[in-house]
Amino acid sequence: MHPETDPDPVWVAGLAGCPPARAKWAVSRAQAEGALYRHLAREHRSEGRSSYVEIDAPLELYAVARLLRPRHVLEVGVSSGVSSAYLLRALKVNRCGRLHSIDLPRRGPARRRARRSPGSWSLPPGRASGWAVPRAVRSRWDLRLGDKRDLLPRLARELSGIELFVYDVPHDDDDAADEFRALDRILSPHGVAIVDHGPSGDLCPALAAWARRRGARPLRRAGLGLYGFRAR
Ligand SMILES: C[S@@+](CC[C@H](N)C(=O)[O-])C[C@H]1O[C@@H](n2cnc3c(N)ncnc32)[C@H](O)[C@@H]1O
Repeated sequence: MHPETDPDPVWVAGLAGCPPARAKWAVSRAQAEGALYRHLAREHRSEGRSSYVEIDAPLELYAVARLLRPRHVLEVGVSSGVSSAYLLRALKVNRCGRLHSIDLPRRGPARRRARRSPGSWSLPPGRASGWAVPRAVRSRWDLRLGDKRDLLPRLARELSGIELFVYDVPHDDDDAADEFRALDRILSPHGVAIVDHGPSGDLCPALAAWARRRGARPLRRAGLGLYGFRAR
C-alpha cells in the first residue's frame, strides 16, 4: 500500500455539498490517521506484497464519511479492506453509522512467487475478505460474502435508507444498470454514490444514464477514474 499524496478536497466539497474550507479540514483529519495507514501497510507487507488492488482515494472516502455523518454506508468490493477500513474508522470517529459491505472473494494461488504478483485482489492463503482491517474498527461492520448480483438487491430490500454508496468492483453495463436501479429507492436525497472505473476509465453508459435520471451530476476525482454523484 502506498500513501495517497494528492487528495482532492474540491471533489470532497462537491460531493458533501460543503464549503471548501470544511472539505479541507475533513481531508486533513484523514491524513492524520497515520496509525491506520501504517497498520494497513504492515498487513499488506506481511503477505509479501506492498499492495492489493485497492481504492485510489481512501482519504476522500474518509473525509466524505466524516462530513455526511451517514447512518448507513453500503460498499461493494472489499478485497484486503482498504476502503472498508477508512470508512469504518470515519464512522468510529463520528460515533454513528454502520458499514454494510459485499464481497465475492477470489482465492489466490498458494505458491509464494505467484502471491507476489501485483495487480490482483485475490486473497492470500488463510485470509478472508477484509483481512487487513484493524479489529478495533470492526464493530460497526456488517460484512456479507457472495455475489453482488444476489446480495445488493437483498440489502436494498433490508435497508430503509443509505447516505453513502461505494461501488469498487468490476461491472458490466447490464449489471450496473440493474444494481443502481435497486438502489434508487434507498439512496437518500443528497446521498452520495462513488464508483471506481479503474485508473483511466470513463464513466460507463449505465451509470451515466442512472445519474441523469437521479439528477446527479457526475464529479470526477482529479487524475483518477473515480466518479462521485450527489443525488437529488
Ligand atoms: C478492486 S477490489 C476492491 C478493493 C477495495 N475496495 C479496497 O479499497 O481495498 C474488488 C473486489 O470485488 C470483489 N468482487 C469481484 N466480483 C464481485 C462480485 N460479482 N460480487 C461481489 N464482489 C466481487 C473482488 O473479489 C475484490 O475483492
